[in-house]
Amino acid sequence: MRVVFATAELAPFVKVGGLGDAAAGLVSELRVLDADVEVVLPDYGILDLRVKEEIDLDVPEWAGPAIARSGSLDGFSDVTLVQAPRLERSHPYVDGDGRGWVDNDVRFMSFSAAVAALVRSDPPDVLHLNDWHTAATLGLMEAPPPSVLTIHNLAYQGTSDGGWLVAFNRRFEAFEWYGGMNPLTGAIALADKVVTVSPTFAREVLQPRGGFGVHDALAARGGDFLGILNGIDTQVWDPATDPSLSTHYDESTVSRKRAIGRLLAAEVGWGPSSEPIIGMVTRLTEQKGVDLALDVASSLGSMGARMILLGSGDRSLAAAAGRMAADSSERFVFREGYDEALAHRIFAGSDLFLMPSRFEPAGLAQMQAMRYGTIPVVTDVGGLHDTVIDADYDPENGTGFVAAEVTSASVADALSRAIRAWRSTRRRGAIRRRGMSRDWSWRRPAGKYLDLYEEIRLPR
Ligand code: ADP
Ligand code: GLC
Repeated sequence: MRVVFATAELAPFVKVGGLGDAAAGLVSELRVLDADVEVVLPDYGILDLRVKEEIDLDVPEWAGPAIARSGSLDGFSDVTLVQAPRLERSHPYVDGDGRGWVDNDVRFMSFSAAVAALVRSDPPDVLHLNDWHTAATLGLMEAPPPSVLTIHNLAYQGTSDGGWLVAFNRRFEAFEWYGGMNPLTGAIALADKVVTVSPTFAREVLQPRGGFGVHDALAARGGDFLGILNGIDTQVWDPATDPSLSTHYDESTVSRKRAIGRLLAAEVGWGPSSEPIIGMVTRLTEQKGVDLALDVASSLGSMGARMILLGSGDRSLAAAAGRMAADSSERFVFREGYDEALAHRIFAGSDLFLMPSRFEPAGLAQMQAMRYGTIPVVTDVGGLHDTVIDADYDPENGTGFVAAEVTSASVADALSRAIRAWRSTRRRGAIRRRGMSRDWSWRRPAGKYLDLYEEIRLPR
């Protein structure tokens, strides 16, 4: 089974959020299952590729000149980087002020044209596209191979005013969307299978209210639109071997977390305390409910807890978090930025992990938290619904705490319930153990993707 897997991110080489983790984790596991997967990634000018082959791609004038360089990245083989005008930037998507590059539509349309050219020159059994950055590929091909589109985040569709439509002389109707251009809806219509990253999100987006304006386009795909829950890379996320930690632990030695928590507290300037640490590691966006977390954080004193937030993104959310940290540094610490090693220390050193998302296609962070014995406190949406079981409502199986509504009051209630459970050594141990022992790996999801590939591949 030969697969071309096109993505804008690949962890740890290029990662803004979960797309990078998901791409790397899924591809690695597909390879374990013997699929021959070539990853195609834009060349943002930051990667050190050991090049084996270089070819010029046959792309339309507006997308070129484009070059495909194939080889391996450190520890990751069979990667092709596409060099094309405008792709090389300091950040894949945003400028120094966190604003999207103004030409993102053209940039990723060019990338998609390059993927189309690459696939045309050597057609694989299956073409696997991820998110809007790669979605235009299908509309740019006369006869695309069997294809899967995975939607990691429906909130981003790559829409623009459509000025670019004139650049296409065939099948441009694939991108037309209410007078503008939308590469994602094009691929939703054209891919053989459309997948999103959890079963609950797949149901939510069929409703007008949760469908980001495209619920009808998804509904039109009937049984060819489905949800497959993401996994996490259980080698990268393993508290027994994590190189970012000075103390290692597993299910049977989970009490060692306390020592990691003490170090984490000292690192952020806190003295010894018996209060739980609430961690949060996130992109700062409306999606992640950072504002709700800040509301709740104003009651940390009465809850008897401390909180560390690591995040980057939206300027105004960062400013609000900065103000809260300045006002109550003894309980609330904000580290602005993207910091992989600190993220690992927060997952390991925290007692509770807060993720009050407004919507969540899958969410990897809550799974990472459970893998590290850190009890998640989440809202009841999308992939959070599919991965966290409330320990008050289901004491036998509970793995965390779930806020019934996406409101500050409901999140505060779930957090208070979590703190109460955490204070009981018996309940804390049981909840942690259940979260740690569940199989969060890509094994099962990768098997489901492989079944999909088999279903759509053409007979030889
Ligand atoms: P999303 O893809 O919507 O951002 P996920 O939960 O699926 O959310 O994945 C987020 C990934 O990015 C996780 O691996 C999380 O640990 C990581 N992450 C998010 N923000 C940061 C940050 N500021 N520093 C380090 N890692 C981060
Ligand atoms: C997106 C979603 C997140 C998901 C990730 C990987 O960024 O926001 O929920 O886990 O993609 O699929």
